[in-house]
Parts: sequence; C-alpha cells; structure tokens
Amino acid sequence: MPTRTDLFDAYALPDRTRPRVRVNFVSSADGAVTLEGRSGALGGETDRAVMQVLRTMSDVVLVGAGTVRAEGYGGLRVDDRDADWRRDRGLPDQPVLAMVSGSLGLGPDDAVFAQAVRRPVIVTTERAARARGADFAAVADVIACGEASLDLAAMRDAFAGRGWTQVLCEGGPHLFGALLEAGLVDEVCVTLAPRFVGGDAGRIVRGAAEADRPFDLAGILTDDEGFVFLRYALS
Ligand SMILES: NC(=O)c1ccc[n+]([C@@H]2O[C@H](COP(=O)([O-])OP(=O)(O)OC[C@H]3O[C@@H](n4cnc5c(N)ncnc54)[C@H](OP(=O)(O)O)[C@@H]3O)[C@@H](O)[C@H]2O)c1
Repeated sequence: MPTRTDLFDAYALPDRTRPRVRVNFVSSADGAVTLEGRSGALGGETDRAVMQVLRTMSDVVLVGAGTVRAEGYGGLRVDDRDADWRRDRGLPDQPVLAMVSGSLGLGPDDAVFAQAVRRPVIVTTERAARARGADFAAVADVIACGEASLDLAAMRDAFAGRGWTQVLCEGGPHLFGALLEAGLVDEVCVTLAPRFVGGDAGRIVRGAAEADRPFDLAGILTDDEGFVFLRYALS
C-alpha cells in the first residue's frame, strides 16, 4: 500500500504561488461516479488517504452544492497530524471549504455550516447574493462572481486575492464540467475502483460540451486492493 509519505510525494504541488485548480474524483472501472447515489461506496482505504492528502495540501476545498446536498457534507477538518504538516509550511491549520451554488440553494442551518471549524465560503452570483446572501452572514462569507451566471475565472481570482492559490475541487460532475469548459482545470486526480456497477450513474464530467481536451498522464499509483490512482496534468 502507498504510505502517507508516498502520497505526499506523489501529489506534491510544483509551485504554490501560481493559482492552480486540481480536481479529484473516484469512478468505478465502468465509469460510474456513484453507487447508490453517493461516491463513498466506490472508494477504499487508499482513496480516502489520497483525499486527505489532497485536502491537506490545498488552500481551498471547492465543492458544488449538489454534492454538499447528496453527500451530506459536514464540517471539513484535516486531522492533527495533517494540521501539523500545514503549520510547518506556514499554512493555516485547516483549508477553507468553498461551496458553489448559483441559486443559494443551501440552508444556513445545514450541518456543513454548523460543524465548520473554519468559516466556510459560498460562491454565487451577484443576483443571488443580493436576494439571499444576508441569510448566510452569520455562518459563511459570500463571494459573488458574475451577475446572473457564475464567473468561475473571477472566482479563482477572488480566491487568489485572499492568498488561496491552491484549489482542490471535489466535484461534483456539473462543477467539474463548468470548470473544464472555462479552461480552469490544471490537474485531474482520478481513482479507478476495481468494480463494474452498471446502472444509470453519471460520469465524472456533466454539462460540458463535447470537445477534445487532452491532458498528460502525470502519475499512476496502485494499491493492494486493486485501485488505480491516476493523475492527469494539463498538456
Ligand atoms: N465520485 C465522486 O468522486 C463524486 C464527487 C462528487 C460528487 N459525486 C456525486 O455527484 C452527484 C452530484 O452531481 P452534481 O453534478 O449535481 O454535483 P455538483 O456539481 O456538486 O452540484 C451541482 C450544483 O452545484 C451548483 N453549481 C455547480 N456548478 C455551478 C456553476 N457553474 N454555476 C452555478 N452553480 C453551480 C448548483 O447548485 P444550486 O442548485 O444550489 O444552484 C448546481 O445545481 C452526487 O450523487 C454525488 O454523490 C461523486
């Protein structure tokens, strides 16, 4: 099995000064993004370890509201050893959790806010922020990017303006599709699970128009359970 040190080496970030969007997904070998509606059943022990390492390295963990709702995201917290790793590198103990919602279809009483150990961020449109942004004032910072539709490049710039250059997007598929279409994805980490689930589950990218978007294969790891950990970097 890859050790924690192996994972920190394999996923090391080249340069923290340049804004970078890294995306992480788990998929079945037949391309399903969920099993029984959630991603957790697809992953394994190493996949969970990769997720923790990627979170530990990031300034922001970015997630779409659909995933927050489907996966029941609670507060984001790296463990004490990972918080030490961050502190040793001059980073705050915890990354920021940023949620993308065009409609602000979240509730200020949701677990994701109630359990937060660092004040989260909601990214939305100017229009939604005017209509509902104040509802979240007690529990989150609201960043508005784009008047009626979300401007994801402006979001990345707003993060960088706060010193948050290293963005880890944990999905879901619609958010990944929008980031891909906007040309904002630098790296994609995909865990391929050794199972074929069939059914109607979607793929890891949704909503993006068909196009050839080549990436370079930048790394492969495997573990004893048959999982494959692929890392693709923008060509
Ligand atoms: N296998 C994996 O690694 C993995 C990872 C993540 C998620 N998933 C699964 O994926 C499913 C959810 O899929 P999904 O595609 O609906 O997830 P999603 O991309 O997280 O959620 C879509 C929602 O997020 C907001 N959003 C995303 N991109 C936006 C944009 N460009 N502009 C404005 N709003 C945007 C909107 O929220 P509002 O409706 O609030 O406006 C939209 O309805 C769940 O079943 C989850 O378990 C799997």
